[in-house]
Amino acid sequence: MTQMRIFAFDFNGPAHLSAGLWRHPEDRGTEYTSLKYWVEYAKMLEDACFDGIFFADNVGYHDVYKGSVDAALKDGAQIPANDPAYLIPAMAAATKHLGFGVTSTTAYDHPYALARKFSTLDHLTNGRIGWNVVTSYSDSAAKNLGTGVQKAHDDRYELAEEFIEVALKLWEASWEDGSVPADAASGTYTDPTRVHPIGHQGKHFTVPGIHLCEPSPQRTPVIFQAGGSSKGVALAAATAEAVFMNATSKAGLKKQVDTLRAKAVEAGRDPSHIAVLQMITVITAPTDAEAQAKYEEYKSYVSYEGAMARYSGWAGLDMSAFDPDVPFKNVKTNAGQTMVDLFSKMDPTKEWTPRDIADYIGIGGTSPVIVGGPQTVADELASWVNETGIDGFNVAHGVKFRDIKDFAELAVPELQARGLMRTSYDGPTLRENLFGAGQARLPQDHPGAALRDALYAKIK
Ligand SMILES: Cc1cc2nc3c(=O)[nH]c(=O)nc-3n(C[C@H](O)[C@H](O)[C@H](O)COP(=O)(O)O)c2cc1C
Repeated sequence: MTQMRIFAFDFNGPAHLSAGLWRHPEDRGTEYTSLKYWVEYAKMLEDACFDGIFFADNVGYHDVYKGSVDAALKDGAQIPANDPAYLIPAMAAATKHLGFGVTSTTAYDHPYALARKFSTLDHLTNGRIGWNVVTSYSDSAAKNLGTGVQKAHDDRYELAEEFIEVALKLWEASWEDGSVPADAASGTYTDPTRVHPIGHQGKHFTVPGIHLCEPSPQRTPVIFQAGGSSKGVALAAATAEAVFMNATSKAGLKKQVDTLRAKAVEAGRDPSHIAVLQMITVITAPTDAEAQAKYEEYKSYVSYEGAMARYSGWAGLDMSAFDPDVPFKNVKTNAGQTMVDLFSKMDPTKEWTPRDIADYIGIGGTSPVIVGGPQTVADELASWVNETGIDGFNVAHGVKFRDIKDFAELAVPELQARGLMRTSYDGPTLRENLFGAGQARLPQDHPGAALRDALYAKIK
């Protein structure tokens, strides 16, 4: 087995997926407003050779449960939500190799502004930035960002396709390599003959001009994607370099991975140019028994209301309409059918009540949870990789900072001793750490490379 890619999965707020756990005495969620906290976190991750930290983000909030945001506010359920992008330069300054995935939506931003933001981050991190492309799911985001109602699911993806195309044109096809001599003798900072307007005129965006930024080390940030619908998979197969999955079983994950790689081949891409990362929560301790005790203790902190606030938001379904102790089945929703079907598909023999769902998602959201000492954790992670064809994991937590630190101190040495995790980095950039030294730029089979080649063919 090749080495696993390992990212920490987090959120720039007091609490992410786990409900009520921020009240645990060792949880450090309340420190999210402190740069010192995030810098300490970044150094800890790099010392343990994590590939990176991946920030989820949402420009909406969970106000579906009881038709109100109150339960989400009370439990800090993904609200407050600070902007993760502003953390990156400080975390990058304290590290050399750690990568940074930042979630940013195509639904309410403009590609011209987003391309500038990520070029800036790519410069400041020396090529360690990734963009997690999401299409958004919260009505609250649409209401507050001016569009009133959300576009339909598939229309959001159609918009995303054009959004990415514009951003790729700006990153890859506007400023030629060598366009910035910064030559004081000739008085030329930028050679104007080598900077080109992209001339984009599409259904959603008109961007006739040039990119605002000079080329950064990776040019295009590593493109991440997480949506699992057929439209989401098609977009990932066409443009993503890393795909984030949250399957609840190995069999289900294998199917998703096989489908994605087959679709990447259909799109003319080398399927090994997509790194698949499964979301996983790991609760570890020196022994299996201690890890189990830790997990049991965590469970006592799970908040039913906090879990339901999240689940109602993710599924677009007000769970307060259902009795907490009556099995929940055959429910249809327009928003997040995947979320609703998740539980019946995971274990068809079990009848899930809302309370069972809260217990399950209370620690680590919908991700599978591994509880055990370092050997058990390494065995389990290895079996997920071997049985599904994934490339690695996005590691979520129960208790903020503590669980990732325990993973770093206990599980990482075991994985490294087995040759399953890196002990040094391949290159300075995120793309090289994912795909090998010397590959800082998009590979030739990526559509961004085709846009670049088309431009160069026109001008040469
Ligand atoms: C593992 C995982 C993580 C996600 N993280 C985010 C996120 O941080 N912010 C967000 O707005 N959407 C997030 N999403 C949602 C999607 O990227 C996507 O917009 C949504 O799932 C709807 O697309 P789909 O129907 O294709 O799944 C995530 C989805 C998955 C599966």
